Amino acid sequence: MKVNSGEFNPVRSKDNFLVFGAPAIEDDEIQEVVKSMKSGWLGTGPKVAQFGQDFASYKGASYAVAVNSGTAALHLSMIAAGIKPEDEVITTPLTFCSTVNAIIHAGATPVLADVDPYTMNIDPEQVEKHITSKTKAILPVHYAGRSCDMDSIVEIAEKHNLKIIEDCAHAIETEYKGQKAGTFGNFGCFSFYVTKNVITGEGGMVITKNEEDAARIKMLALHGMSKDAWKRFSDEGYKHYYVVECGFKYNMMDLQAAIGIHQLKRVESNWMRRKLNWDMYNEAFKDLPLTIPVPSEPATRHAYHLYTILIDEAKTGISRDGFLNAMTANNIGVGVHYLSIPEHPYYRENFGWKPEDFPNAMGIGRQTVSLPLSAKLTDEDVGDVIEAVTQLLTVFSK
Ligand SMILES: Cc1ncc(COP(=O)(O)O)c(C=O)c1O
Repeated sequence: MKVNSGEFNPVRSKDNFLVFGAPAIEDDEIQEVVKSMKSGWLGTGPKVAQFGQDFASYKGASYAVAVNSGTAALHLSMIAAGIKPEDEVITTPLTFCSTVNAIIHAGATPVLADVDPYTMNIDPEQVEKHITSKTKAILPVHYAGRSCDMDSIVEIAEKHNLKIIEDCAHAIETEYKGQKAGTFGNFGCFSFYVTKNVITGEGGMVITKNEEDAARIKMLALHGMSKDAWKRFSDEGYKHYYVVECGFKYNMMDLQAAIGIHQLKRVESNWMRRKLNWDMYNEAFKDLPLTIPVPSEPATRHAYHLYTILIDEAKTGISRDGFLNAMTANNIGVGVHYLSIPEHPYYRENFGWKPEDFPNAMGIGRQTVSLPLSAKLTDEDVGDVIEAVTQLLTVFSK
């Protein structure tokens, strides 16, 4: 690759573009989807039930309810947690918009607490500072797959009688002191969006210890129709349903669960492949003028969902956005997780937030770049990413 000269040879060719977050899909998923298609039962049915059971047993959770997105999982958890208009819910400014939107959809007010600059997770001290008489819940996000400081968060929640709803969209495999992410509070919410560690295309899951909460979430996910309404067209004969609450259309399809069942079987081998990719990046980038993720905290298990580097123009000679463009020009897909929430006009206009009010999240959001990490990457793909990053930083930091 020659940057700044007339001649530019990208590290990869255009027809070999490395898609960011491309999922590792195998024949088992494909065959299971085909079976669903041939059976004629595409909607919510036995495969959704099986995927829920498999997921609950992987997480050691009492109950799991499959839904059609992580956003739906968060929204229904808010409702089941009893979050109402006038309530406040504290979350992080360094997250995907849907974390905050779920609070707003429940009619409540989101309150942001800045992140720790090193772990990039919500800072418990900041959480405590933002508690008011209206605070009803904390919504921590295990950013990139790194566990939040759950001892402190649980302690704060107990002290102030708050619910905990964990956003585990990045954190299927995450553990904290031997306990699995999503099992600390009232609800754990997962996403199976295409870039996630386990995928169903679109999809989500709520785990909980409480049987009544699980039943309510299942009912709310299907219009608020009474128990097992999805069976109404089954071979057990027609069943009437009754609408008992005004619910939503958030149910997962068997077609999606068909993918998830097989994805979940490979959750550990895919985790190992991503760890390998992660370790190769750490080794290759350790002497470059960029910031790599801090090591995992003792007694925790990182889910290795996002490998995020920080590009500080003063050190690298290239801006973050210039770096994103240069990686794309090398036919390597990259991501940004995330511009801090107050950078978006909707939240600034409706909540009066300014990025400067959350300086750690703002700084990270303006410098962060996510490199491809998926279990689909080959050693050669990882080598190409390393080559592109190394060459770019060598050329520009001179
Ligand atoms: C941190 C976080 N929360 C929530 C979500 C929402 O998940 P979904 O896209 O499945 O609705 C995502 C994923 O996109 C996410 O990364």
